[in-house]
Amino acid sequence: MLKTRMTELFGIGHPIMLAGMNWITEPELVAAVSNAGGLGILAVARCAPEETRKLIRETRQLTDKPFGINQILIGANAKENIQVAIEEKVPIINYSLGKPWFIDQVHDYGGKVVGTIAIAKHAVNAAKLGCDALVVTGHEAAAHGDAATSLVLIPVVASQVDIPLIAAGGFYDGRGLAAALALGADGISMGTRFIATKECNVHDNFKQLIVNASEQDTLYSHVFDGMKGRVLKTKAALKMMQRGFPLFEAFKGAKEVKEQMNLSYPAFLAMSFKMLGKEDEGYMPWIMARQAVGTRRHLMAIQKGDVEEGILFAGQNVGGINDIPTVKELVDRTVAEAEAVIDKLNQAKA
Ligand SMILES: Cc1cc2nc3c(=O)[nH]c(=O)nc-3n(C[C@H](O)[C@H](O)[C@H](O)COP(=O)(O)O)c2cc1C
Repeated sequence: MLKTRMTELFGIGHPIMLAGMNWITEPELVAAVSNAGGLGILAVARCAPEETRKLIRETRQLTDKPFGINQILIGANAKENIQVAIEEKVPIINYSLGKPWFIDQVHDYGGKVVGTIAIAKHAVNAAKLGCDALVVTGHEAAAHGDAATSLVLIPVVASQVDIPLIAAGGFYDGRGLAAALALGADGISMGTRFIATKECNVHDNFKQLIVNASEQDTLYSHVFDGMKGRVLKTKAALKMMQRGFPLFEAFKGAKEVKEQMNLSYPAFLAMSFKMLGKEDEGYMPWIMARQAVGTRRHLMAIQKGDVEEGILFAGQNVGGINDIPTVKELVDRTVAEAEAVIDKLNQAKA
């Protein structure tokens, strides 16, 4: 057993969190992680509020253990989805990209708020606002890490804030968990590693690409969804890096994404323009359309397994992922490995 501030705060068995991943961390996977003693996180940014409520209730049918939701605060429906989660008294609210307005409301029913940051200055601000814990995302991560790697970012943040930290970006086994604890974190969050599990809904073609990939097989760029992020090196991802902007695909993508998210055109445009504010490298006119193209291609990967045209956010840890276990096998193995590493280090002390 590994007891840390993270396990104490959330009332869970193991200091392991399932990273929120839209379209992927759905009730079955979330419940599997919580039932295995970790913390499952349901990603709801893709949902209209009524679907958020439905998924929260579905998750509760599958587990009586603590779980959380993840919401991107600059997304469409962010306010409404957070309100639903508060009404449903979801134990943990994990947010990313944006400033939380709901901390007191969540504390009122005994819930916890977990911010996601990739820059130390943002960690200090989030702690001041009253967050109970933080997910600290390094450059190795799938999707939107910033410039600093986990090795540097975790201890830097740990020196500046005094709330539990959950290290994200690059973690896939017990050595990583033990290392995160040594660096000053209280547990880990894993995204890519949990995609390659039996309970995950991602198409088998992409699980297999993860298993076959080396640590060199990811690309980090703003081209995939308008914000700097990391994806698996697929044919489509390489093409997106090389060629000019696909205007026709952008229109097609925007229409499909809008329909999948059940949004009106004004709501889709509002969400996209809010995301413009997060970009700082001069690609502004293209971000909205890039986001539409990116989401469309992600759905081609996740739902259709299209290895020619699909793209998938994935971390550098693909290089260390070599199998597709059940969630419980993965969680138990990760904890056992971490305990063995800690024992070994203790024995090394003269
Ligand atoms: C396919 C995919 C989708 C993701 N979607 C989201 C999301 O909707 N919201 C979010 O905050 N992070 C999202 N992330 C980032 C993860 O929450 C997490 O930070 C990242 O996976 C950690 O790095 P790792 O993959 O190296 O474990 C996504 C990651 C992946 C792999």
